[in-house]
Amino acid sequence: MTDLYAVIGHPIGHSKSPLIHSAFAQSCGQDMAYTALEAPPTGFADAVRAFVASGGKGLNVTLPFKVQAFELATDPMESARLAGAANALKFEGERIWAQNFDGIGLVNDIQRNLGIPLQGLRVLICGAGGATRGALMPIADQQPDCLMVANRSADKAVGLQREFAGRATLQGGGYGELAGERFDVVINATSTGLSNEALPLPEDVFAPGALAYDMVYGKGLTPFLAQAKSAGVTRLADGVGMLVEQAAEAFTWWRGIRPDTRAVIDQLTVPLR
Ligand code: ATR
Repeated sequence: MTDLYAVIGHPIGHSKSPLIHSAFAQSCGQDMAYTALEAPPTGFADAVRAFVASGGKGLNVTLPFKVQAFELATDPMESARLAGAANALKFEGERIWAQNFDGIGLVNDIQRNLGIPLQGLRVLICGAGGATRGALMPIADQQPDCLMVANRSADKAVGLQREFAGRATLQGGGYGELAGERFDVVINATSTGLSNEALPLPEDVFAPGALAYDMVYGKGLTPFLAQAKSAGVTRLADGVGMLVEQAAEAFTWWRGIRPDTRAVIDQLTVPLR
């Protein structure tokens, strides 16, 4: 019997997940169907229950339901607990397992696809919201030389530093604290890629040969990437690889077989200009 999967969100029309998972299913010879489910903002739990009742095996979860997905889970895994949010669910009888693969997707994209091992590097993440929260432990696990979180509201970055103390060595603060600091990898995890705003980054925050990575995808040269480019950065990336790699993690978790990601990343890549 064909196994059922879907991505759930509001809105959901823009989602690339059906395309990605259908390509994985085909290349891995898996008998599964993957669709997009739109749930009303207040109807997430009901929509999940209806999906499970119809035989659904797993869901990817996108905005605005990642925190609700975590709260609904009976068995949140460590990745979801640390992020306080889930982006993948697996259903087994009455049990709902939850994972958050965004951070590992980011790390796999930077290390495997872009060929930049994070060990020993100086890494800066801009933003202190859910996207940063999910990325912190997977990055810290690679043992960078330094991991800094900068945020418009400095207190939120300092809060993350306190919350993760003992598990990860990270520094949190405002953008003003970046003066004189240089980083090998600068990641934009704020929502400015969507709102088209620039970040108050000092021009010399990028070390020679640095990577500038914007978590949003398909937007071309975002204000953050444009800032990096005009500061002389040549290694620029958007989040398309992160998107496909987190999908590959979910697919592997559900199906027990790891799909190749290259062809799908190439298919979805939009030039950065
Ligand atoms: P997500 O779950 O995608 O991380 P979020 O939790 O709403 O979304 O967080 C959005 C992040 O983008 C926050 O770090 C926010 O900074 P504040 O905490 O100071 O609000 C950041 N952000 C949004 N617009 C920004 C802007 N114009 N300049 C700088 N940071 C911005």
